Amino acid sequence: MMISTFSFDLPTRIVFADNLLSNAGEWIKSTVPGRKAMMVTDPGIRAAGLLEPVLASLAQEGFETVVFDQVSANPKDVDCQAGGDLAREWNPEVIVAVGGGSVIDSAKAIALLHTHPGTIRQYEGRGKVTKDVTPLVAIPTTAGTGSEVTRSAVITDTERQFKMTVKDVKLAPKLALVDPVTTYSLPQSLTAATGMDAFVHAIEAYTCRLANPVSDGLALAAMERIWRYLPIAVREGGNQEARREMMVGSLMAGMAFSHADVASVHCMAEALGGLYDTPHGVANSMFLPYVTAFNAAADPIKHARVARICGLASEGMSDEEASDRLVEALFGLSEEIGIPRFSSLSYVRHEDFDTLAEASFQNGSTPSNCRTITAQEYRQLFEAAYAGRKP
Ligand SMILES: [Fe+2]
Repeated sequence: MMISTFSFDLPTRIVFADNLLSNAGEWIKSTVPGRKAMMVTDPGIRAAGLLEPVLASLAQEGFETVVFDQVSANPKDVDCQAGGDLAREWNPEVIVAVGGGSVIDSAKAIALLHTHPGTIRQYEGRGKVTKDVTPLVAIPTTAGTGSEVTRSAVITDTERQFKMTVKDVKLAPKLALVDPVTTYSLPQSLTAATGMDAFVHAIEAYTCRLANPVSDGLALAAMERIWRYLPIAVREGGNQEARREMMVGSLMAGMAFSHADVASVHCMAEALGGLYDTPHGVANSMFLPYVTAFNAAADPIKHARVARICGLASEGMSDEEASDRLVEALFGLSEEIGIPRFSSLSYVRHEDFDTLAEASFQNGSTPSNCRTITAQEYRQLFEAAYAGRKP
C-alpha cells in the first residue's frame, strides 16, 4: 500500500540507564527551567522507597519540593482536581511524576489544570489544550504504560463511570527518566499485566488505521522484544536483561501508539475499567486474544508479520496460517503468564454487557480498529471472552 501523509513529533527527551533515580535532580535541572518541583505519585511507590532517592537528588540540586501522593489506579477526575488545586496554590515550575501509567496520566492532567481554568472534563478529546502546560518529567516504574512518551492522559470521569482521553502534544513529558531497576520488585501479576498492555499498544499501533511507517518500525521492534522477554521478566523479576528489554519495548510501544492510535482492545478495556475499576493492564490482557482473533482476517499481511517477527511462523507458511498461529500463541502466552480469565472477575455482571459494548463502541479509538466493528460485535466479543471461546 502506498504511504499516506503523516507527521511525527519527538517532544520528549529520553534518558535510559540503570540506577537513574539518585541522579534525577541533575537531569531535571539540565532539561527544564525552574527549581520548584511538585512530585506526583501514589502511596505504593512511596512505600516501595522509589520516591526518596528522587527527592534527595532534587534537594541536592537546590530544588524546593511538595508531594502529592493521592493517585489511585484508573486515575480519577476528583484526584486530578485535588492535585490541580494544589498546583494552582503552590505554583510549581516543574511537575515530576514517579509511578506507573496512572501516576503519569494524573500528572499530565495536573500540569494541564495548573495553567488552564476549570475541570479536566472540559478538556476531553483532542485539541482543547490552548496553551503550554507546566513542564512535566516522567519517571516510569512499570514496563507497560509508555505514558512517559505519549501525549495523552486517560482519566476516569467518576460521574459518568467513563474513561475519557485528553490528547494533545503539549501533554507529552519534556523528559523521561527510564530506569529498569525500578521494575525489579514488581510482583509477577503486575509484570504480566503491564507487559501485556505494552504488547497491546504495539499490536494496536501496528494494525490500526492510523499507523504510519515510523510508528510501524517502533511497534515491530517493541513486539519482538516483548514477545521474547515478557515471560522471562515474569518468571525472574531480577533478570537484568529481561527488565531492560521490557522497559525499552514499553517505551517504543508508547511512541508507536502515541503517533498512531490504539484500537478495540483498549476500547473494551477502558469500558471495563470505567465501570468496575478493573486495572488497565489486566483488562487489556484478557481481551487481546479475542480481539486479535476477530481482527486477523481483516489484515492478514500485518498480523502475519507480527507472527513472523515473534518467531511464531515457519517458512513457507501463508499469511492466513501465520495469523492463526499468532492468535493461538496469544491465548498460550496469557495462560503461561497467568492472566486472569474474564469470567473469574466476581464483580462482572452479565446484565452490564450491553453497557460495556456501548461504551466500547463510543470510545474515540473504535474507528481506528483495522476491522470495522459495531456495538453488537463488541457485545459478542465480551460474550466470547466470558465463555472462554474464540469469536
Ligand atoms: Fe494501555
